[in-house]
Amino acid sequence: MKTKVLMVCLGNICRSPLAEGLLKSKVDTSQIYVTSAGTGSWHVGEQPDPRSIAVAKKNGLDITDQRGRQFKAGDFNEFDHIFVMDNSNKANVLKLAKTDADTEKVQLILDEIFPGENVDVPDPYYGGDSGFDNVYDMLNEACEKIANRI
Ligand code: 4NP
Repeated sequence: MKTKVLMVCLGNICRSPLAEGLLKSKVDTSQIYVTSAGTGSWHVGEQPDPRSIAVAKKNGLDITDQRGRQFKAGDFNEFDHIFVMDNSNKANVLKLAKTDADTEKVQLILDEIFPGENVDVPDPYYGGDSGFDNVYDMLNEACEKIANRI
């Protein structure tokens, strides 16, 4: 059975689509299923933010086939790993956890590069393009680590 990985942010249009695209590019997708979701519902069905599409394209990734979906409690049953972008996403996801096994699946993605330091991926939505480059670089490093251990 495939290992299933879910990347979660707030809107599912900026950070988690980049994390999804990056991890997919680094793993054998016949063995590992990767997708993403947002804790909010505003952007369900939408493509990623144009600025995320642009930074991905600049780095050789095409994320235009992704569409926004909302995180739901049932995702705990489907996924083996749930990587959240920040502490607020973590709190919102954990509100829907029912068991210790659910809770144990949830990890801040930057724990991969800053273990135990509780570092958030900054939300670039209201900032400029440089925020997206910064987010891309952080997620690239974190996804490299994830790809090497799952
Ligand atoms: P994301 O960024 O969580 O990285 O996708 C956001 C996108 C949209 C909104 C908030 C954050 N929003 O409020 O619509």
